[in-house]
Amino acid sequence: MEPVDTARASRDPLGRAGDPCVMVTFGAGGDLTKRKLVPAIYNLLHGGLLPKNFAIVGVSREDYSTEQYRQIVNQEFKDFSTVPVEPATWQKFVQGLFYISGDFGDPGLYRRLTELLAQVDQQQGTLGNRLFYLATSPGFFPVIVKQLGAAALVNSDGGSWKRVVIEKPFGQDLASAVSLNHEIGGVLRENQIYRIDHYLGKETVQNILAFRFANGIFEPVWNRRYVDQVQITVGEELGVELRGGYYDHAGALRDMVPNHIFQLITLSAMEPPISFDAAAVHDEQTKILRAIQPLTPEQVLTHAVRGQYGAGAIDGNPAIAYRTEKDVPHDSTTETFVAIALNIDNWRWAGVPFYLRTGKRLAKRATEIVIRFRKPPFVLFRKTSVGKIPSNELVLHIQPNEGISLSFEAKVPGPIVRLGAVDMDFEYADYFGSTPSTGYETLLYDCMVGDPTLFQRADMVEAAWTVVQPILDVWKALPPRDFPNYAAGSWGPEEAFELLRKEGREWREPLRKLAPKTEASAAASAEMKAATSQT
Ligand code: BG6
Repeated sequence: MEPVDTARASRDPLGRAGDPCVMVTFGAGGDLTKRKLVPAIYNLLHGGLLPKNFAIVGVSREDYSTEQYRQIVNQEFKDFSTVPVEPATWQKFVQGLFYISGDFGDPGLYRRLTELLAQVDQQQGTLGNRLFYLATSPGFFPVIVKQLGAAALVNSDGGSWKRVVIEKPFGQDLASAVSLNHEIGGVLRENQIYRIDHYLGKETVQNILAFRFANGIFEPVWNRRYVDQVQITVGEELGVELRGGYYDHAGALRDMVPNHIFQLITLSAMEPPISFDAAAVHDEQTKILRAIQPLTPEQVLTHAVRGQYGAGAIDGNPAIAYRTEKDVPHDSTTETFVAIALNIDNWRWAGVPFYLRTGKRLAKRATEIVIRFRKPPFVLFRKTSVGKIPSNELVLHIQPNEGISLSFEAKVPGPIVRLGAVDMDFEYADYFGSTPSTGYETLLYDCMVGDPTLFQRADMVEAAWTVVQPILDVWKALPPRDFPNYAAGSWGPEEAFELLRKEGREWREPLRKLAPKTEASAAASAEMKAATSQT
């Protein structure tokens, strides 16, 4: 089959570059700016999707001049580019960088920033449009927004726009998320706020909607009549690396569930929106979040499992226990794994469990959504050698092997009736090639063209925390007594398996690695041959 047009699909129907603007990055020397934001902006420039009149103003506490900042970016940030850097384009990019240092809570910083932005507007023709990106630790979000407001830097005057991107985590719990919404809402209009979740920058996540709603064959069976259960696994091989300080206060539940995993759930479960307009999509996502039944305290004990990794091995290499990681207390009770069974109580999904699990130091890095269908009646096969019929499974492989597979049963050739599971596989790389990206390109581009579809609305984050809050409460009241309870390199604690087993179900184990096509087909035919020879 011919690969289809690989042009980037953007929510600007014509894929135009955004308006001229200045991106003001708070946290200009931080990891996020270095590894993701600067490379993503370069990729947009490289792809012709950056406005011609564009500049970045970096803001952080370090005392650099603009010239020094340009040198740092030149020396340290270039390596994170995901495309080969063309010297002329890179030079042009670096010339569009400016820097200002100061304390985020100091009004003087914002006065100087106002002057610098006026100069940059004059030099670069950026027309007063501003994208403020808060790539700082979360404690600074309300501080910076308040100062931006006080300095009148976010007033949309003379037809220009001012937008503010707020990074994750948005709050620590329901009360803090509500209060953060309240604080920033006192300064900014909702349509100026872009609450970011980098999972929505992943093509495979965006594709969930295209897959469901651009194909006529899936939607009719996408409901409780045909679907037995949905499983969402977000497995990570990595431990907490150098983020022990942050992570030990957050834990797996806060770090992954109300944000990344709930994005996957809402996109998989929502009703078709009436258009791709942000409001229409957000409305449907919010309905799903509100339809998820918050667990009662008793249900938390039976429907939510937590774990913490002990020492083990990943890919044959020894891995240390969480409690011995850098900046983690030796008696930490923070969970590094969570599994939850949720119900979405609406007409489409009532009675279909949504099982989700995520953890650090698991057996494999794999994010996937499994739609497991109901089994057909067995009667036809009762008098054959077929013992049982497995469920059909549709798997959306979000990462790292990006693709979609559908498993179904086929007759193994031979005189005796035997069934074998076969797969129909689609891999992104086969059809569209692989475009190395940071995952932030689409999100930054959307900020510049003013499309908030892939960002969170205030009510969405609050609805997500509402679901998670009872679990936080019970877990806080009842500290775990059996940590560490899973070995690094496993698929989590035994209770996570029990969670499904007691309902007569089991987790799908993500494949270790996708075998190259030729080996896979060789293995499949060898298996078929073996099966046939037994008949
Ligand atoms: C971040 C979490 O938001 O997402 C990390 O804070 C986690 O703990 C990361 O590792 C996972 O993102 P990805 O894109 O690697 O799946």
